[in-house]
Amino acid sequence: MAEMGISKNLKGKIFEPVELILYTEEQIEQRIEEMGRQISKDFAGKDLLVICVLKGALYFTADLIRHIDIPLSLDFIAVTSYGNSTTTSGIARLTKDLEEDVEGRHIIITEDILDTGLTMEYLVNLLKLRNPADIKICTMLDKTSRRITKAAPDYVGFTIPEHFVVGYGLDHKHRFRHIPFICTFRKDFDDEEI
Ligand code: IMP
Ligand code: MG
Repeated sequence: MAEMGISKNLKGKIFEPVELILYTEEQIEQRIEEMGRQISKDFAGKDLLVICVLKGALYFTADLIRHIDIPLSLDFIAVTSYGNSTTTSGIARLTKDLEEDVEGRHIIITEDILDTGLTMEYLVNLLKLRNPADIKICTMLDKTSRRITKAAPDYVGFTIPEHFVVGYGLDHKHRFRHIPFICTFRKDFDDEEI
């Protein structure tokens, strides 16, 4: 259990896998506010389409766009890459496509984390075929040490070391997304504990 000076009660079952809190809710909020301000400036006067990569980027995107004060549209796309494991399979597959037409539009793809970069590379290549004006990558977390592709984010919340993290949208076997902060996952965590 985390021992950082957080006033929150961490006694709930969902907090059992928490090892170390990397970013608190307050730190996340502050960083996202800065990112929103920057994006508002960079995309002023452009037809902005924010594409949220489900499901991990759900929380990040919802918070980020509320700090963007220029008009935008929001759409969702989903890909699988990790399955149930904590190591990438290296294979991405589209499981939910966009509803919006992207041709001629300025796109920001919002993602929870860039790890190997394979998922993002797949998405960028897919969207490029639809002739957008521009594609920018915005990720809450950047695990630079594991990158094996050229995928490079234009906006980064935090750069993190090589740890498996959960919370604020990030999952372990589809659970723990709703932990409100970003934390490392206990290696000795037993799934049967829940
Ligand atoms: P990539 O294709 O290797 O860049 O992996 C990107 C995807 O893997 C992300 O969208 C996440 O869903 C997942 N992922 C990578 N690292 C972590 C992690 O530390 N915790 C939870 N999910 C992760
Ligand atoms: Mg994801």
